Amino acid sequence: MDVIHTIEALQARLRTAGPVAFVPTMGNLHAGHLALVRSAHEHGDCVVASIFVNPLQFGPTEDFQTYPRTLDADCAQLNEAGADVVFAPSVAEMYPTPQQVEIVPPPIASELCGAFRPGHFQGVTTVVAKLFNIVQPAVAVFGKKDFQQLFVIRAMVRELNFPVRVIGAETLRAEDGLALSSRNGYLSAQDRQEAPRLYRALCNIADQLKAGARDFAALEGTARQALESNGWRVDYVSVRDASTLLPPVGELNQCVILGAAWLGTTRLIDNIEVSIAALI
Ligand code: PAF
Repeated sequence: MDVIHTIEALQARLRTAGPVAFVPTMGNLHAGHLALVRSAHEHGDCVVASIFVNPLQFGPTEDFQTYPRTLDADCAQLNEAGADVVFAPSVAEMYPTPQQVEIVPPPIASELCGAFRPGHFQGVTTVVAKLFNIVQPAVAVFGKKDFQQLFVIRAMVRELNFPVRVIGAETLRAEDGLALSSRNGYLSAQDRQEAPRLYRALCNIADQLKAGARDFAALEGTARQALESNGWRVDYVSVRDASTLLPPVGELNQCVILGAAWLGTTRLIDNIEVSIAALI
């Protein structure tokens, strides 16, 4: 496995590599990322993982400075998972001058997480577009845990005609249901015990939808209360149409229940998809 830090060296390495399957990450890897790498293997001759903590997608009060940088440990894991190339550029390599051209994401990027993290998805689309242009992958794999991110990236690829096939990989969970996330490492032992409540609250909504409930606001309110009464600060819990990410209107086939909430100083997000077609 080659660890490469410059765009020039990466492009030289990839010139004869065959179709690339690409896994963009911010490092501090866990089993969820490694599953993305394994899935990438099914889609390309050469698996490239990037490790880049992208300043553009962090708000001024967010954790850009403190986001764990664990390059050596990450490379060891990527090697184990069978990545062929790691691209780990510096901020100066990615942004040699202040980035003045950005990709404006679709309006849905201002809802859900975007309502609480203004500019976040614009930072994501901009860096992903740059990475796509640098790596020129045939396929790119993103985790479904960041459902809204995946949705926004798919829209960007579709509307800007990027010649990249985007694959969404299932969320990996700990035994107690907590979605694997780099930010889980911020949790105290006590908060780690509490953390699966977010997933349980979303599952509870899913169960009720499957049982025929359709008062989305009431379901969201109950979930919010279950979390708040256990010390969480809830950004949102929302039932959405999975095909538009908008609030459901009329007939609903596939929906997604998304939540974001804080335990202490750690913000967790999660989502689950539910098919309720049979009940309409
Ligand atoms: O999901 C992430 O880790 C990041 O948002 C991504 C896609 C690597 C862009 O920086």
